[in-house]
Amino acid sequence: MRPPEVVPAWYMAAPSRALKPGRTLRFQLGDLPLVLFRGRNDHVVHALPAHCRHQGVDLAHGAVVGDCLRCPLHHWEYRDACVRIANAARVPAAFQRAHYKVMERYGMIFVHPGVEPTELPTFTPPDEELAFLSGAQVDLDCPWYVPLANAFDMTHLRTVHHRELLTAPEMTFPRPMTFVVRYATSVIGSSWHDRAMRALSSNHIEVMITCTASMLLVESSAGRTRSYLMVSLRPRPNGGVSILPLYAVPKRRSGLHHAHVRAARALFNAFLRRDVSPLSGIRFPEPYVDPHDATIDAAYRHLCRLPAYQSEE
Ligand code: FES
Ligand SMILES: [Fe+2]
Repeated sequence: MRPPEVVPAWYMAAPSRALKPGRTLRFQLGDLPLVLFRGRNDHVVHALPAHCRHQGVDLAHGAVVGDCLRCPLHHWEYRDACVRIANAARVPAAFQRAHYKVMERYGMIFVHPGVEPTELPTFTPPDEELAFLSGAQVDLDCPWYVPLANAFDMTHLRTVHHRELLTAPEMTFPRPMTFVVRYATSVIGSSWHDRAMRALSSNHIEVMITCTASMLLVESSAGRTRSYLMVSLRPRPNGGVSILPLYAVPKRRSGLHHAHVRAARALFNAFLRRDVSPLSGIRFPEPYVDPHDATIDAAYRHLCRLPAYQSEE
């Protein structure tokens, strides 16, 4: 048993600033091709199956006319679905059905396969109290669920990340698609970022990781410093994963949060970079059961129980 390829849940697509009014953006969720566009007047983002319902033109070649996307070949027009067929009185019901939901929050565009949206993971502080910074996408040659399960691999915290558990990991399952792990660690490494974290935290780092479908939220307290990381793991066409991070820190009146969020990005990246080479090319055995680490074992079983998105195209 393995986790499904695409889950009916939220995925981070891109920073909002990457899609200007009147522009399109091609997007891929596993083997599902999508196109996103932003209306010229209302600035609302829509997501559609990428190929025109008529003759299958890739709608990324379309033109945004007003708040609709117009296919270049015979000028069918789309919003969440087809809304107008040139020279036809009405659009057939089958073409009027939307396939995706879109939301903008934290300065990012989120896409949800299926039109019954599930809950978007949220940071503990209210949005207006946080400063956000999007990060660069990283592509890895491994299934999407491996870096996600890795976040719950308590054994590798010591061997790869040079952190020692101070408390036993505490796991809860608050909602059907969500599980949460809390623990505290000390730093046993000696690299520049290990030393920085040791100094910042008085060598006691509290971590809470929330996994909702294929999104991870990491909230960490190191002394008086709080930092936040949201990561979306998107399956790539024909295997592999695209990892898109978003960093956040509490806003400060002094404006120092601009420097702080960059420092948080540098520290999170230095921590995560250690996973890149061990996870490249990794394939979990089938079945994968881990009798040595109850946390990753429970996390993986949870991922295997996630519902699969059934595309009805
Ligand atoms: S192929 Fe798009 S309108 Fe004909
Ligand atoms: Fe890791």
